[in-house]
Amino acid sequence: MADKKGLFIVKKTGSFRHAEKSNGLFIVVEGIDGSGKTLQAKMLAEYFRKKKKDVLFTHEPTRTTKLGRYIEKRIRKGVDNKAELLDLYTQDREAHLKDEMIPALKNGKIVICDRYSYSTLAYQLPKEEWNSYINRFLRPDLALIYDVSSKEAMKRINSSIKQNERRFKKKAIFEKEKFLRVLRKKYLMMKGFKEVRIIDSSPNPEKVFEKTSKEVEKFRRNFS
Ligand SMILES: Nc1ncnc2c1ncn2[C@@H]1O[C@H](COP(=O)(O)OP(=O)(O)OP(=O)(O)O)[C@@H](O)[C@H]1O
Ligand SMILES: [Mg+2]
Repeated sequence: MADKKGLFIVKKTGSFRHAEKSNGLFIVVEGIDGSGKTLQAKMLAEYFRKKKKDVLFTHEPTRTTKLGRYIEKRIRKGVDNKAELLDLYTQDREAHLKDEMIPALKNGKIVICDRYSYSTLAYQLPKEEWNSYINRFLRPDLALIYDVSSKEAMKRINSSIKQNERRFKKKAIFEKEKFLRVLRKKYLMMKGFKEVRIIDSSPNPEKVFEKTSKEVEKFRRNFS
């Protein structure tokens, strides 16, 4: 729902905290930009599909909805207003849960979501508001936070940027690394949440995946 200014207003009603999720498995991947979460999520989806499991691999902000596309547009425009982004991401998440993720979980699927509430905590919210915010939504079974230094993350991000562009953007890159350093600290402060596992993602992708699958199997053993 959009108000006159075109901002999306968070509906105060409706919480998905108590949603029944039946026998599905809900896994979230998180971490700073370039930490390797998308790569690990893809490897995990493949791992389950090989085991003939039904997987929903999804992403936040959503990519197929009108609201998701609107968010993408605002981000591309460089919007940096925390209150506006908080409203947008929150509404997108509520709809994503209600329309896609909860139905999939109820059908026994494994839902792998690339970014979730923890990104909102890290990017938009002060620590005092973290607890009440994550409890507004269904807590995942596992939130895997990929941890890598801001320097290594920048190296990974930059490897896809052309040489000229890199020189041109030197200052922007410096600012970005500083920003990632702050974000990394915030993600590490989430280790107290029971569903969070911090995974060192500095080794090569296969090594990191060994840890990913180990955490997932440990969880499945304890709860199957
Ligand atoms: N463990 C790793 N070692 C070296 N390179 C990696 C590793 N994991 C991922 N990469 C590479 O780093 C880049 C960023 O990885 P990826 O897209 O998975 O990160 P991300 O956390 O999803 O980033 P974003 O937040 O920007 O979406 C990719 O080119 C990827 O192939
Ligand atoms: Mg990604």
